[in-house]
Amino acid sequence: MAKTKSVFVCQNCGAESAKWIGKCYSCGEWNSYVEQVIGKESKSSGLSIEYEKQFPQKITEITSQKDSRISTNINELDRILGGGIVPGSMILIGGEPGIGKSTLALQVALKLNHIKTLYISGEESPQQIKMRAERIKIKNENCFILGETLLENILVHTQNVKPDILIIDSIQTLYSDKLESSAGTVSQIRETAAILLKFAKTTHTPVFLIGHITKEGTLAGPKVLEHIVDTVLQFEGDHNNMYRILRTTKNRFGSTDELGIFEMNNEGLREVTNPSEILITQTEESLSGTSIASTINGVRPLLIEIQALVSSAAYGTPQRSSTGFDNRRLGMLLAVLEKRAGFRLSQKDVFINVAGGIKVDDPAIDLAVIASVLSSNLDISIGKNMCFAAEVGLTGEIRPVNRIEQRISEAEKLGFTKMFISRYNSKGLDLGKFKIEIIKVGKVDELFRALFKKSAE
Ligand code: TYD
Ligand code: MG
Repeated sequence: MAKTKSVFVCQNCGAESAKWIGKCYSCGEWNSYVEQVIGKESKSSGLSIEYEKQFPQKITEITSQKDSRISTNINELDRILGGGIVPGSMILIGGEPGIGKSTLALQVALKLNHIKTLYISGEESPQQIKMRAERIKIKNENCFILGETLLENILVHTQNVKPDILIIDSIQTLYSDKLESSAGTVSQIRETAAILLKFAKTTHTPVFLIGHITKEGTLAGPKVLEHIVDTVLQFEGDHNNMYRILRTTKNRFGSTDELGIFEMNNEGLREVTNPSEILITQTEESLSGTSIASTINGVRPLLIEIQALVSSAAYGTPQRSSTGFDNRRLGMLLAVLEKRAGFRLSQKDVFINVAGGIKVDDPAIDLAVIASVLSSNLDISIGKNMCFAAEVGLTGEIRPVNRIEQRISEAEKLGFTKMFISRYNSKGLDLGKFKIEIIKVGKVDELFRALFKKSAE
């Protein structure tokens, strides 16, 4: 009898080791090694997907493909994909369970009514999917549903149906009978994804993979998958909030940091086309501790509300806590305020919240964070007509940010009449075309004087 061979595989990053180890040498995760039998694993998967013969070619002789992207008929999704689906690409939609990945994927499958789509679910029965489709209320004759988890069977069905787009829900339920390990383990995920990638590249069929990722990112596979696929879309949002954010974290065919916003309602996901309006609280009076930042995500400007609460520390050690903003960055900004502008904040609790549960990675929100903190500390509100866009440096200087014109015109479009930017941001900037009043500041204390001087006197 053949001896069974086994290896230990890190369930976080896919690193392998001949014996069990407590801490992964590759990703540093603890207790993530699981034994997997590889006895039956064959080098080649033996599947009947034919490779096109490839020879080295001169780059000048390679015929470039025309940009024949497929529109998903969902504008937000097209935009974050970089203008639609690229034929033969593999797109991973990751997110926590219950966030809406299956809903989005089914909506894509149903909306693409001009081409054939095959939606394969290992999680729900075709009847359950039908019920979901009824909620979404889109009829489509060209959408095929299959409940299957064995990869070899799936490939047979794809040969029969010949879909123009294949959707797999989810990669963690898929398994290949070439491997002995169970579905969802790193070796199964790596193998099945690699075969699907081969399928995508040889048949030029785009493949959507759905992958579960827990908050800690501990579930098997995501890191392994990120290397294999062309595009990674991350679905975020909390269950209490109806807004969902779809973010591109990797894209071989477009820019990353793109962000699409959807609203989950009774009929599935609805695109939010004017997100700035929903992200800004519509209150009658102006409240202290809030200000608006003009941010850029990918190619799109987005105005978001930054809320701060500064209060005397209830316990000995002051708390610093933020939602949607980096805590260390908050610590740094508070230190700058303390050291460079003389504000006594070291005995205060400071809380920051980015409204709408959005996480934005744009240094231009620094100025709005500082403005909100100062406003809450003084309990004096900032006019509702003002917004901010600048980075703050360690010396208290207010630094320029990229694409300032786009930020200004978005603010103007939304009816703001005053905008604070860095003094050093005006190079090549033609302010003549804007009606909005631009206030240039160079240091944190200048911002303070400009905002609160009249009230403080
Ligand atoms: P689902 O797509 O199943 O999440 P995932 O595949 O990421 O696990 O969607 C989960 C939630 O969405 C579920 O709690 C129900 C809700 N939902 C709606 O609110 N409206 C709808 O029309 C649909 C289809 C789902
Ligand atoms: Mg699902």
